[in-house]
Amino acid sequence: MSNPDLNHLNQHFSIANHVQFIEGPGGLTVAAVANGEATASIALQGAHVMTFQPQGQEPVIWLSKFAKFAAGKSIRGGAPICWPWFGSHATDASLPGHGFARTVMWQVLETRATSAGETVLRFGLTDNETTRAQWPHASSAELTVTVGATLRIELATRNDSPTAFDLGEALHTYFHISDVAKMRITGLDGCAFLDKVDGFSRKQQQGAISIASEVDRVYLDVPGDCLIEDSGLGRRIRIASENARSVVVWNPWTEKADKMGDFGPDGHKGMVCLETANALENIVSVAPGETHRMAAIYSVEKM
Ligand code: BG6
Repeated sequence: MSNPDLNHLNQHFSIANHVQFIEGPGGLTVAAVANGEATASIALQGAHVMTFQPQGQEPVIWLSKFAKFAAGKSIRGGAPICWPWFGSHATDASLPGHGFARTVMWQVLETRATSAGETVLRFGLTDNETTRAQWPHASSAELTVTVGATLRIELATRNDSPTAFDLGEALHTYFHISDVAKMRITGLDGCAFLDKVDGFSRKQQQGAISIASEVDRVYLDVPGDCLIEDSGLGRRIRIASENARSVVVWNPWTEKADKMGDFGPDGHKGMVCLETANALENIVSVAPGETHRMAAIYSVEKM
């Protein structure tokens, strides 16, 4: 039987040799992108980029083989959007961790092909009764995903209310790596970080980051690009950002990953999260009528 929503989306937004809307795992509606530069897939639930693979490369983004795909549930892997708060809610522990944007449906606003052969998709989230119950501010979010040899994800937040609000946000991207033992992260040397594994104590990064146990850190006031250097794949993933002051580095390691139930055996060894964010001390005050834009740009370099 044909799905009327899919028919409608494809009538309005599919572009030959760029993007088509399909029914994905768990019945989720997915924008499947394939152009001359890369393939990608984005679930409309959460405007969640699930995969990105430039031509001739291994996947850049990690999606758990054991991910659960279901309405209202966050997907393990890809690039979940943490919005409008990061981590636990500041005052109400009953509200969902990392906000609600990653588990609600977004609207497709636009798709287009650029003259450079990239595919651009724009998704929107406007407030409604359910979101207002959790976030009492007239506001809206837009996610613009540009798929080419590089992947750009831009999250824009508009304040439509008469007062300023504080915004916490992250593009919580899981990166595919050969083996966590063959990977290090550079670009954070000298930065202060809050160590969640050690009761949020404040520390300073010395040199590159290697991971051999649970790591859960929010780096503050990060000055520039970060690199995931993967000697196993002979490549570096460069993570550039705009209007983001924090970087979150996370790997749950064995025990926590096992408890989560959607990593699979040793799943954590093939991923690292490097999240472009404004979190904790770096949350953003958005003035009435203002639009705040944060972006992350992922590219692959040979090592
Ligand atoms: C990270 C947090 O950003 O996300 C971790 O720093 C958290 O503390 C992780 O465990 C995953 O969160 P979730 O809600 O997707 O399981």
